[in-house]
Amino acid sequence: MVVLEIKSLKKAYHQSSTSIEIFKDLNFHVKPGQKIAIMGKSGSGKSTLLSLISGIIKADDGDILLDGTSYKQLEESQINDFRASNIGFVFQNFHLVSYLNALENVMLPAKVCNISNPKEKAKELLKSVGLEHRLDHLPSQLSGGEKQRVAIARALIHNPKIILADEPSGNLDEETGIAVMDKLFELIDKNNTTLVLVTHSKEVALRCEKTYELSQGNLV
Ligand SMILES: Nc1ncnc2c1ncn2[C@@H]1O[C@H](COP(=O)(O)OP(=O)(O)OP(=O)(O)O)[C@@H](O)[C@H]1O
Ligand SMILES: [Mg+2]
Repeated sequence: MVVLEIKSLKKAYHQSSTSIEIFKDLNFHVKPGQKIAIMGKSGSGKSTLLSLISGIIKADDGDILLDGTSYKQLEESQINDFRASNIGFVFQNFHLVSYLNALENVMLPAKVCNISNPKEKAKELLKSVGLEHRLDHLPSQLSGGEKQRVAIARALIHNPKIILADEPSGNLDEETGIAVMDKLFELIDKNNTTLVLVTHSKEVALRCEKTYELSQGNLV
């Protein structure tokens, strides 16, 4: 059983006369419920890989299958809905919507996906990340760690097939980073969600079942 399959993936960025080859022939799979850490030097292509898995950018060749759905076979117009229904994101810079409060941010995926009782579910998730007293705070009225906990709640509200996290503790002090990662892992374990986590921290990587190093376009 695999939830994510990457087959002969090819990706280069073209800039004026030069091209930067990121992936030549990447093959990789993740099993349901598995927690994978991806490490690697700055510029090795970690964020590019997450963008490809999320369908935000397109591969030059090869294919990605999420829960059996081939990205090659998805129409351009279907990709956004597919992503919204199946993937949850946690970014280094939180990416909360600045004019929505914590509760509204967490409920955002419900606008695209069918979620029953989104408000109750969002409240419950915010409670589980310790933010039941911050529901009506705007992102600008939250601390970094609180923002990231809102982002974690938002990433999970629609029970995605997979969570993609790009250095989620990268912008936090060490103690807050650990607390935020504790919450992420707690919720992921509770829901048996699959995780692909990019991190520069060996300690964080150790909490995953497998760690890969991205180097010269290969995961080793
Ligand atoms: N849109 C783009 N156009 C051209 N080149 C790009 C683009 N996005 C990224 N790159 C280049 O591709 C390489 C991989 O970038 P990527 O963001 O995937 O690295 P990363 O492994 O996430 O690095 P970091 O650890 O610093 O976040 C980098 O050398 C970067 O300069
Ligand atoms: Mg990156």
